[in-house]
Amino acid sequence: MRPEGTASVVRCYIENNLYNFPSPQKYYYSGPMFRYERPQSGRFRQFYQIGVEAFGSPHPQMDAEVISMLRHLFMRLDLKELDFQVNSMGCDICRPGYRDSIVGFFMERLDNLCHDCRRRYNLNPLRILDCKVERCVEIRTGAPRVTDYLCRECREHFEKLMSLLVMLGIPYSINNDMVRGLDYYTRTTFEVTSKDLGAQNAVAAGGRYDRLVMEFGGPQTPAVGFAIGMERIIELLKNTVRYEFPTPDVFIATIGDTASREGLVIVDRLRERGLRVELGDSESSLKSQMRRADRLSAKYVLIIGNDEISSGKFKWKRLSDSAQGEISANEISDFFTKKP
Ligand code: HAM
Repeated sequence: MRPEGTASVVRCYIENNLYNFPSPQKYYYSGPMFRYERPQSGRFRQFYQIGVEAFGSPHPQMDAEVISMLRHLFMRLDLKELDFQVNSMGCDICRPGYRDSIVGFFMERLDNLCHDCRRRYNLNPLRILDCKVERCVEIRTGAPRVTDYLCRECREHFEKLMSLLVMLGIPYSINNDMVRGLDYYTRTTFEVTSKDLGAQNAVAAGGRYDRLVMEFGGPQTPAVGFAIGMERIIELLKNTVRYEFPTPDVFIATIGDTASREGLVIVDRLRERGLRVELGDSESSLKSQMRRADRLSAKYVLIIGNDEISSGKFKWKRLSDSAQGEISANEISDFFTKKP
C-alpha cells in the first residue's frame, strides 16, 4: 500500500520514458494513501492526498511557481489564516557537514532527549529537530541551523526562492527545524500550517527532490512538488463553509392509497417544473407527515386525502406563517411554480 504519491509518479515518469518529452513536465494526482502510524486527531492510517510534481527544472522559479499554485488553491477555497514555512535541506555536498554538527550538538544532550529522539540520534539525527516533545524542543534551543551550513549553490538557490516569494507577495517564514519525514528532499522544503488544526497542523507539504529520479534508475532529473492532506483541508473548511441542506419547496402529505397514487403524479409534475418536492408516507398519520415536513423545513405542504380527490380541491399550508388556502388540481403546478 502506498504511503505517498511522489515515488509512484517518479516510477511512472521513468517506466514510461517521459523524460524524452519536453521539460518541465507537471503532473497531479489524488487518492488514498496508507501509513502505519499511531492514529490521532488529524493523523490517519488511510487518508487522501492531492499532489503535484514538476519534473525537469532545477531553478528556484519552479519552486516558487509550485508554492504559488498551492497558495492560489487555498485562496480559492477561502482559506486565509495559513502559514507558509520554507527551509533548505542543502545537498549532498553541504548536508553531511550539517549532519555532523547536529550529531555533535546532541551528543552531550543525549540523555535528556525523549526515547524516540535517542533512537533518531542513531538513525536520522536531523529528525530530532522535528520532535514535538516539550523537553526536546527546549534542548534543541541553540542547535546549529541548516541554513548556516549551506554551500554557495544551495544558499543562492534558497535566497533566490525567497526573493521570488517576496516578488509574488507570498508571506512566508523560515523554519530551520522543518526536517521533513521523507528523506528524498534536497534544497527547498516547505509546509503550509494552520493554527486551527492542533498538533497535526500541516495542511500541505513538499519540496525539491533532485536525486530521486536518478536513484530510481532514471536520468538525472531535478523535481519539486507537494501534497495536500484532504482531511485537514476539510477540517478547516468546516470553520468557513456552511453547508445548507436543500429544503423541499413542497411536501405532499397523502392519506390513503388513492391519494398516494395521486400524490406521486403531482410530485412528478412539480419536479418536471424544477421544484424540490418530497412525498409523505401515506401509511403515516397526517400529524406525523406534518411533523416530517416541518423537520425538513419544507416551504409548503399540500394535503391530499379522499375528500380532496372527490372535491378536486386541495389544501395547502405555508409553514413559515401557517397561511393556508385551497386550490384545484389543475392550478397546482402554476401555483407552486409562481410562489416565492
Ligand atoms: P507529507 O508531508 O508526508 O508529504 O504529506 C503531505 C500532507 O499529507 C501532510 O502535510 C498532511 O496534510 C497529509 N498527511 C500526511 N500524513 C497524514 C496522515 N497520516 N493522516 C492525514 N493526513 C496526512 C508527502 O507525502 C510528499 N509526498 C509530498 C511531496 C510531493 N513532496 C514532494 N512532492
